[in-house]
Parts: sequence; structure tokens; C-alpha cells
Amino acid sequence: MSFIITTPLYYVNDKPHLGSTYTTIICDSIARFKRLIGDEVIFITGVDEHGLKIQRTANDKGLEPKEHCDEISRIFYDSWKDWDITFDKFIRTSSQFHESLVHEFYERVRSSDDIYMGVQKGWYCVGCEEFKDNPENSSSYKCPIHQKNLEWRNEENLFFRLSKYQSDIEKIINNESFIEPKERRNEIKKFVSKGLTDFSISRTNVSWGISVPNVKNHTFYVWFDALLGYISALSLNHENPSLEISINCGWPANIHLIGKDILRFHAVYWPAMLISAGLKVPEKVFGHGFLTREGQKMGKSLGNVLDPNLLLSKYGKDPVRWFLIKDISLGSDGDFQNKRFVDIINNDLANTIGNLINRTVSMSRKWFDNKVPNYEKELLDDKLSSKSKKTVEKYIDFFNSYKLDLAAGEILDLAINTNLYLNNLQPWILIKEEENITRVKEVIYNVLESTRIIGLLLLPILPELASKIDAQLGHVYKKDISWVSQLEWGILNHGSELPEPTPIINKLEYE
Ligand code: MSP
Repeated sequence: MSFIITTPLYYVNDKPHLGSTYTTIICDSIARFKRLIGDEVIFITGVDEHGLKIQRTANDKGLEPKEHCDEISRIFYDSWKDWDITFDKFIRTSSQFHESLVHEFYERVRSSDDIYMGVQKGWYCVGCEEFKDNPENSSSYKCPIHQKNLEWRNEENLFFRLSKYQSDIEKIINNESFIEPKERRNEIKKFVSKGLTDFSISRTNVSWGISVPNVKNHTFYVWFDALLGYISALSLNHENPSLEISINCGWPANIHLIGKDILRFHAVYWPAMLISAGLKVPEKVFGHGFLTREGQKMGKSLGNVLDPNLLLSKYGKDPVRWFLIKDISLGSDGDFQNKRFVDIINNDLANTIGNLINRTVSMSRKWFDNKVPNYEKELLDDKLSSKSKKTVEKYIDFFNSYKLDLAAGEILDLAINTNLYLNNLQPWILIKEEENITRVKEVIYNVLESTRIIGLLLLPILPELASKIDAQLGHVYKKDISWVSQLEWGILNHGSELPEPTPIINKLEYE
């Protein structure tokens, strides 16, 4: 099965922030999971480079927009590589071939009679690249997101007949699985129920954009061009990129994972544009929550922006991934608190998972000649094997329904139960009596087997830690055999070598 997942295409006004890193890590985790269960994944990310916001940022730096975009796009690309993000396509909307796809798409929409010239009057937020709905006292009103004054616009623009698609959009959003989570779906339903109005898709005051064919001085509105980036990404690296090629490569997307602030564009404008062009609409739009820091909104003016690259160099990939995936329920807002972060990493990863593996491998090596215990008769010890089976089932269900925090929670729960099992059975006491030797072998085997499964389940969430666990067990994961089949209980070879234990996760210190 093919599976197309996208992050938003990030504005290149600045380097990646914690919000963009969050979305990208979540998408990466889902993409890794889908690959493991056998899907053919196309994971799309990239950058949104046009528009007034970028044009002004470049001007302020004394650079040509293209020069500025090259620099920041590279930073995004390199940053995702540093985080080991397994994207398949990185689309830049300033690419030549994207421009030709936008033109092709525009022609389709135009021939559906969905474009007309009109006058756009309203208050615009350059930060959001969006007209705001009639805020009161607009001249002194600041955009709540960017804390900047709105700008008045009164100009001739091309319009897209969104109003024509009222009933199509209603039908699409009434499908419960199209917008998630539910609260966001309700917000969009409320917005749509007020009646859709046409929106402008061109600008006359922005030179840094894709020009509208045969309409002098007009460039496309940045959102019209950016959303199409998802489709042109599929044509990337093809000899003759086109809408046709992108469709053949598997359009539509299965999921657009985005922040809640840009849901309207994805769940209302975008499907209408696609229907107008005779293309299929995406299967799902998931609007995740916003991250704050120590309870406060992050912002440059507040001076509290958390640089993801600093987190990366200080703590490494996996601790940050675990916190973002495990501690925040996808769809809800989340708060990054340093103390909580340190506590969670130390409790969950170092104490619960790391220690379990370390001490069990040590015992097994000490008592059984540096090997996984070998015994002839398999005794029945259902508890841990049935717990593991249930964990695997729930974990897969949770992942498939994008409840990543609960999937991660299942892994932790298995680790907690395995620790309990070990502590209850106390093999270090049993080993003192010769007659208990088979029982000890069985207990240690079961715990090692459970850690093998914990390692496999961690693969999409914490790839680095998962491979360290695998190495600690003697490289037992086989990439050429189905991952799901390796989640069966009892696969760890009796009598196989166990390498000397090394700490697989370091404890973090409070700042
Ligand atoms: N360029 C548009 C998207 C076009 S998609 C065709 C855009 N870019 S953005 O860089 O401003 O935002 C990218 C994403 O970051 C959005 O999904 C936004 O919701 C998200 N976030 C911005 N700040 C955030 C937090 N503080 N927390 C979590 N996500 C946040 O919008």
C-alpha cells in the first residue's frame, strides 16, 4: 500500500523552530512506522519560499529573495538531516518545475470558470499571509499570533470561486475522519456553516512570487502556490514533471499533518481548489496543537524561543523525540518544561528501559557464559508473553490512529511490567540454589525477549535507542524480514552471544 504523508512547507523567513521540528519529528515517526508495517511511504517536506513576508525579510537583510531563500532552505534541509528525518521529498516552491505545475493547475481551475478579477479590500497580516475576518478597530488591532499591526489592502486581485464549493466542502468535512482532532473539526464546521466566500489568489504588490500567466503585474498569492507544493513534490526528480506525473506517483496525500493555525487553508481552501482542478482531495488533515515553553507562548520579543538545534546538541535526538511524542497528545497543546523533560527522560528511558536491559544482560552474561540462556525444555510462563502480545496489538492500533503518545505509553508499560516481573521473581536469589537453574534461565530469557520487543517497538519513535538495544542483544533484528513477524514472542535465539553491556542512555542533569 502506498502512503503519502506531508509536513507543512515551512516559511523560510527564519530557521526551524521548535514548532516545525515538532511536526517534522511526528511525521518522521509515522513514516517510519508505516514503512515497518510494509507500506510504500512517500514522506514529503519542504519550504514555502514566496510572498511578502519572505520578500521583506530578504530586503531587511539586504539580500535578493532568491539568495535569502537558498540560505534558509539549506538550513532547513541540513537541520532535518541532523535530526535523521527520513523524508523522501524536499520541495522548494521557488523551483522552476513547481512554477510550471502551478501554471498547469491554474489553467485547470480557470477552465472550470472558477477565476475572476475583483477588488480585495481588507486587513492583512503579513506574518500569517492572511486577511483577517473584520477585526474591530482594525487599524490598531494586532495579529494575536504575530503581535504586529495589520495592513490595509484595497487592490485588484484575481479571485477563486470558493463559494461555489460550499456543499462539496460540507460533505467532505462531515466525514468524521477528514479533520482531526474532533475539536478542530468542529471549529472548521462552524466556519464553513457561516457560508464560504471567494478568496483572492493573486497580488499586485508582491514581486517575489510566481507570475500569473497573461495577467500583467500579478503574482500568485503565496498560499495558492504553496499548497501546490505537496503535489509538485511528487514530481521531484522526474524528467518531465507535470500534474499527470504527480498523479501517477500516488496523489492524493493520505495525511497532511499541520499546526492548528493553518487548518482552514488545508481543510477548506485546498480541497475546493483540488475539486475545481479535477483532482482528488487528501484523505486526512490533522491539526496538531501549539507548543509553549514553561507555560509561556514562545516569541522573539519575549526572548524565550527554544532553539531545537541547541536541544539537539545538548541532549541528542532521542530524548527530544521521546518528550515530544510521549508527553504531548497529538492534537493538544504541549508545554516544554525543562524539569519535566529531564524527569521524563531519566525515569522512562534511563531508569525504566535502560536499566532493565543493562542489568538483565549483565546477569545473563555472568551466569550463562556471556550468552542468552540456553535450555532444552520451554517452560510455560505466560504472563510476560501475553502482556507483550497485548502491548503489540494496542501499540499498532494506536499508531494507526495517530495516538503516538499512547503507543509510546504502551512500550513504557511493557518495560514497567518487565521490571516488576524481574523484581518479583528475583533471579539473583533463585540462582543461589542449583535446582532453580532452569527457572532462572527462563526468567532471564523472558526478560531479554521482552527487551527485544521493546527495542523493535521503539524503532519508529527512538531509532537510535532502538538500534542500541538491538546491538546490546547481539543484532537480532533482521531488516529483510517483516518487522511485524518479528514482534512474535520467542524469537531471540537461545544460546546466542550477548555483547558486553554499555550504557544505552545517559541520565540528564537539571539545568
Ligand atoms: N508556509 C506555511 C505552510 C504552508 S503549507 C503548504 C506556514 N509555515 S510556518 O513555517 O509558519 O508554520 C509551519 C508550521 O509550524 C505550522 O503548522 C504551524 O502551526 C507550526 N507552528 C508554528 N509555531 C508553533 C508552535 N509554537 N508549536 C507548534 N507548532 C507551531 O504556515
